[in-house]
Amino acid sequence: MNSYDSDRLLESVNDTHKQVMSPEQADFIVFNTCHIREKAAEKIYSELGKIKKIKEHNNNTKLIITGCVAQAEGKAMIRRQPLIDAVIGPQMYHEFKNVLEEVQSNKVIKLDFESNNKFKKLNQKRLIFNKSSFVSIQEGCDKFCSFCVVPFTRGAESSRKSIDVYDEVTNLVDNGCSEVILLGQNVNAYHGLNNLGKEINLADLISSIEKIKGLKRISYTTSHPIDMCEDLIFLHGSSNTLNPYLHLPVQSGSDKILKLMNRKYSRKFYLDIIKKLRKECPDIALSSDFIVGYPGETKADFIETIELVKQVNFAQAYSFKYSSRVGTKSSRLLSEEICDEEKNDRLQALQEILNEQQKKFNNSFISKNVEVLIKGKGKKDNQYRGTTKWMQVVNFEAVKKVNGFETVKIIKASNNSLLGEVL
Ligand code: 5AD
Ligand code: SF4
Repeated sequence: MNSYDSDRLLESVNDTHKQVMSPEQADFIVFNTCHIREKAAEKIYSELGKIKKIKEHNNNTKLIITGCVAQAEGKAMIRRQPLIDAVIGPQMYHEFKNVLEEVQSNKVIKLDFESNNKFKKLNQKRLIFNKSSFVSIQEGCDKFCSFCVVPFTRGAESSRKSIDVYDEVTNLVDNGCSEVILLGQNVNAYHGLNNLGKEINLADLISSIEKIKGLKRISYTTSHPIDMCEDLIFLHGSSNTLNPYLHLPVQSGSDKILKLMNRKYSRKFYLDIIKKLRKECPDIALSSDFIVGYPGETKADFIETIELVKQVNFAQAYSFKYSSRVGTKSSRLLSEEICDEEKNDRLQALQEILNEQQKKFNNSFISKNVEVLIKGKGKKDNQYRGTTKWMQVVNFEAVKKVNGFETVKIIKASNNSLLGEVL
């Protein structure tokens, strides 16, 4: 989502400013930040040392912090680090252009929550075009998982109108885009209004945009298991455009921990969804997020996570050590925190299995011909990089010039990518 937001920020000042390739050349340096885990948030402060030198050379360079760290730390950020000239929360990006002017004379703080306003005002045509594009359709979250800062930094759930999404996707496709990845913190909780003023769900939205001529692939991320409604599951079986891929975070395989996390579903509920999805779409590639070492997680709880992983067999996944985030419910569970050494051990054990599963999934593609959406060039003239509809990265060489889609024979697989050739 930050990648999408960064493009939108740039597009919103396109008539007056241009992107430069190094911070030394810039009048404005913008850090679009993530606050989800401690490690992500710390990055910003460690980067600021470099900016100090740049600002010493050029006093006029302005430093702007956007994103969820800006939202969470706000004014305190400017106090802690006087190098910072402005902080803008994720719901105030429509003010970006004004901030570039205001910041010339004073420090600027924009942290209100006006999400509908933002989308309306940012709704000028897209200007950055790629073969595969992100499109935000929903923002914020009302779920309040005990460990998560998102409801505090991105605010309440809100969905864009379906016509606005449709128009944005049409515009992207008219300019060469073949794949859209629909984004939201809780994307499958989408409930935007259609032209008749009626709320529609994500399955309805996908069914409407898949009719756009020239759009070949659709994905959506990130989903919550309890919003995985039947319509959407069936669509995985009936749609030719929806990628056979789903990122569905489970976080833990232990019912006790799921309850403590306030995830609102059980292990069985999750496994039943997986079963239904596989019935509709047998070749679906499943991805997930995991947190290890949540306060109170015993070895037995962790083993339940490992067992769930073995049962599902994921094509890929992301896994993290629990980190305490200010303001969340779990940040008060200090006495039950798991020590770092134990968290490291659990993470390593989990990742070994997940990596193994990912490798096995990728290996199953060796000697197959797959359709690859070409997204860029490699280092050499005849090298290309693209993705399959299962969202694997494919690197390949081609004798002829290629563009768009190409059928590639897979000759080698690693954990993170496939290697192929065009005959
Ligand atoms: N600690 C560790 N991981 C977290 N995530 C969210 N909050 C935390 C936290 N406090 C992970 C979850 C989520 C992903 C985006 O980040 O797994 O799905
Ligand atoms: Fe955070 Fe996702 Fe839970 Fe919302 S559903 S609180 S975004 S982990």
